[in-house]
Amino acid sequence: MAPYQHLDDPYDYESSPTPRKPIFTACRAFSVVFAVAVFAVIIFQAQIWTLLQKIHFGQCGGAITHNVLFHDRKDLGDAGAVGDQAWKALMPPPTADSREGVITVQINETYTLPYEASYTHALHCLDAMRNMFFHEPASVLQANIKKREHMGHCLSYVAQHVLCSADDTIERVKPPRDSAGNYLPEEGDGQSARQELHTCRDRSKTEQILHELTHAEPRSLKYPEVRREVDRLDEYYEECPGCFYN
Ligand SMILES: *[C@@H]1O[C@H](CO)[C@@H](O)[C@H](O)[C@H]1NC(C)=O
Repeated sequence: MAPYQHLDDPYDYESSPTPRKPIFTACRAFSVVFAVAVFAVIIFQAQIWTLLQKIHFGQCGGAITHNVLFHDRKDLGDAGAVGDQAWKALMPPPTADSREGVITVQINETYTLPYEASYTHALHCLDAMRNMFFHEPASVLQANIKKREHMGHCLSYVAQHVLCSADDTIERVKPPRDSAGNYLPEEGDGQSARQELHTCRDRSKTEQILHELTHAEPRSLKYPEVRREVDRLDEYYEECPGCFYN
C-alpha cells in the first residue's frame, strides 16, 4: 500500500534490476581499436606500403646514400677532348629544345617553360666555367659582359651548392716516411689526391627520372606544381608520377 519507500527501508539490492556495467569494457575498447586499425590499413594501404618500403630501403631519414672514394679524376681535369667527353657523360644529353638536364614543358603553341634539378644546374655552371678556362681566349671574358655575368652567376651558384651539402668528411694527408718511420717533407704542390670515402647521395634514381623526362615529348609534360617548401625530384616523382605528365 505504501507508494513511497520509507527512509528507513533498506534498499533491496538483491531484487533491483540488472546492476550497471561500465560502458567501456576492455573487450569493447579492444574491438574499437581493432576496427579502427583495420580501416586505417584499408584506407592508407598505399601510404603504409610506401613507408614500409622506405624503412626497408633505409630512406626514412632522406635519400639513399653510398660511400664513394674521391680520387684525382684526370678525365674531369683534362683540358681537351677527353675532358669534354667526361663532362658530357655527367649529365643527360642536351635535347633539341634545351641544354643538358633541362626539362622543357610545352605550355601551349607558343609558350614553353623549363625546369631542372639543382645538381645538373651546378654541373652546367662548372662545365661553362671549364669551357671559358680551356676553350676561350681570356679576352672573350673581358669583352663579353653577358659571359662575365654568366660566369659570376655560376660561381655564386656553385659556391651555394657546395655550402648546401657542406660535406664535412675529414681529409687527411699521408705524408711519406723514411725507413725509420720519420715523416718526410711532403712533395708536390698539395694537389695529391686525398683518398677518403665520402657519403654521397645515390643519384641512380634521379638520373633515371631525368633521362625519362628530358627525352619526353614537351607536349606530354606538365609543369610540376609547388607541393612543399622543398620539392625534391625523386620524392615528388615517386609519390606522384602523374604530376609530371599530362
Ligand atoms: C600561351 O600561354 C601563355 C602563358 O600562359 C599566354 O601568355 C599566351 O597567351 C598563351 N598563348 C596562346 C596562343 O594561348
